[in-house]
Amino acid sequence: MTGDTGAAGSFTDFNIDSDPGLRASMWERWDEVRDEAGAFETQGPVAPVWIFTRYDEVHDGLQDWELFSSVNDTPYTEMGQHTWIPEELDPPDHGKYRQLLTPFLTPAAVKAMESGIREQCVSLIEEFKDRGECDFFEEFAKLYPTTIFMRLMGLPVERSETLLQWAHELMHLSDLEDPDGSIRGNATMSIMGLLAELIADRRADPKDDVVTAIVNAEVDGAPITDENLLMMCFLLYMGGLDTVAGELGAFFYHLATNPADRERIVSDPAVIPQATEELLRAFSIVTTGRVVTRDAEFGGCPVKAGDRAVFALAPANRDEAQFEGAAQVDFDRTRNRHMAFGLGPHRCLGSYLARAELIIALEEWHKRIPEYSLDESMEVRFHAGGVAGYESIPLRWPPKQSRTF
Ligand code: HEM
Repeated sequence: MTGDTGAAGSFTDFNIDSDPGLRASMWERWDEVRDEAGAFETQGPVAPVWIFTRYDEVHDGLQDWELFSSVNDTPYTEMGQHTWIPEELDPPDHGKYRQLLTPFLTPAAVKAMESGIREQCVSLIEEFKDRGECDFFEEFAKLYPTTIFMRLMGLPVERSETLLQWAHELMHLSDLEDPDGSIRGNATMSIMGLLAELIADRRADPKDDVVTAIVNAEVDGAPITDENLLMMCFLLYMGGLDTVAGELGAFFYHLATNPADRERIVSDPAVIPQATEELLRAFSIVTTGRVVTRDAEFGGCPVKAGDRAVFALAPANRDEAQFEGAAQVDFDRTRNRHMAFGLGPHRCLGSYLARAELIIALEEWHKRIPEYSLDESMEVRFHAGGVAGYESIPLRWPPKQSRTF
């Protein structure tokens, strides 16, 4: 069964985790899938999966939480029963938990974090700046948001390396590398252990931070259970690390391979905030899922209760029906209502923090390393999936360059 664009026959086996086209050239492959199939049904492990790739359907579907529920939509089934909070709750419960985290991620709260973020960013770049080369992902993109997350949560920054290793095992191993899911399961348990220690510590010794706030909060007149506290902390961990690293990789891969856009950022740093929005649009990395709650017609598709729905932000944000010249990066784009941070009740809680991290990275990097390119003698690695991203981006530049704006 297909949606109203027909021609989905060749996509019935489409799988976002294993599609070779998505691994090789994700955004172009998604463009092809959207243009050829639009909205279509595939077979999933538990139930049929409907894939939505066009702007309008993603836009409407993410807001229609009564038809597309977030409850029980769990990507890591080997971990057994769990609920990411607030991501896997529907209104009204969803809002009760979400509002506890919101004060720590408002524009004002992020503003207060900015000097620490900048300091962190500069110290990472200074480590390799004079060397003339680095692996952008290994040495910058994955470290930068991790240390910011550690500070946000009040975790010891010295433990970043361990946390990163667990994050990698949890989020990036393929079924081939971890056939029975035991590595992912162990990594999850280790992260949970660290977060449980943190929760116990804040109960005994309250501080002025996000964990203390939720430890002391009540929902429906009762304290939050330890399990739910853990799920809230875990979601912040999952939400804040891989996404920022993934976007940074996509941004810098584009800039390293498109000198005119790189030079524009160097010569006109005031363009950075709007360049950030345009790069988020052109290179969105999140594909999110829901469970259909009732039989209905949506986007020309006869969805049924219990079916799964996948909303792919990458092709939706490059849909020509919404964005003129959608596949082109245009820093001067004036109408840019992209959905890189999702939409509806679950719209990203960390979007202000993410934007600050991305803008600061573009500013501080280009002050210090204005000229750089991809080292084509080395391998670039990329993974598709729910949060896609590069795993290795070898860059090189003339050593000892610098620039003052
Ligand atoms: C560029 C980086 C980021 C991108 C592209 C991104 C993207 C998204 C998207 C698309 C969603 C909605 C998912 C859905 O509808 O199922 C989401 C939700 C969420 N994000 Fe982000 N995110 C980023 C950074 C962050 C950061 C830095 C944090 C926190 C520190 C964060 C925390 C969250 C949380 C807690 C949710 C769940 C919100 C809810 O369910 O109400 N994200 N993010």
